[in-house]
Amino acid sequence: DKPLTISKLLSMRAEGEKIAMLTAYDSTMSALLNRCGVETILIGDSLGNVIQGHSSTTPVTVEQVAYHTECVARANTHAFVIADLPFASYGDPAQALDSAAELMRAGADMVKLEGGDWQVDIIQYLVERSVPVCAHLGLLPQSVHILGGYKVQGKSKDAASLMLEQAIACEQAGAQMIVLEAIPSSLGKIITDSLSIPTIGIGAGADCSGQVLVLQDMLGISPGKPPKFVKNFLDGHASIEAAVKAYVREVKSGKFPGLEHGFAG
Ligand code: KIV
Ligand code: NA
Repeated sequence: DKPLTISKLLSMRAEGEKIAMLTAYDSTMSALLNRCGVETILIGDSLGNVIQGHSSTTPVTVEQVAYHTECVARANTHAFVIADLPFASYGDPAQALDSAAELMRAGADMVKLEGGDWQVDIIQYLVERSVPVCAHLGLLPQSVHILGGYKVQGKSKDAASLMLEQAIACEQAGAQMIVLEAIPSSLGKIITDSLSIPTIGIGAGADCSGQVLVLQDMLGISPGKPPKFVKNFLDGHASIEAAVKAYVREVKSGKFPGLEHGFAG
């Protein structure tokens, strides 16, 4: 198989074929995810939590994401590779382009940034300069110190319609994909139905165009109580490879996420 392109992901979205995404931070897991048919690999700034042991993603630097992107990219054969622009690395267009360029040079096919209509200028600036952008709405982990914790977003009618407007603004600015995190499943469906780019949900219901989880979470090896949207795929499977294959299968068939992994409006 040739590496997946954004055109292929857009046509999967158009045809209603679910997209399976997982995070990875190293070449061993990158190779494994590739063997298991994972279509997109995210080098998330969740590496601050799962690799570095921080309690938030805010200490993560561009250099660190670039390093892990290089590690993943070296073993990548098929997957579309997305790297997170970390906290305070895209404060203005020029800084965003410098940061994104570092991640693209490290092997990213696309960069992801957190935020909605207030990032429109940044998204447009990057896309016009040939950097593919994935937006990220709902729970924004880089804003944890503003939010005062990790909370479900978009629950009120007003918050939901505002988020829908923000998602539309991101698509109009040129974002080619959007991650939706910890929002009511009903809002995940409304946003997905209102956009033509793929929506990738994490705690956003089964109607998104695809799903993502943090690898350590879906293997059940992250310390502490997992968020509601996490399913332990290693449970009942004899190997990491079997667990990842089950994840891909369940995302593709729509079995994951179940109702129990979602939030009510
Ligand atoms: O950093 C990350 O792993 C993410 C996903 C949870 C979407 O942004
Ligand atoms: Na992230």
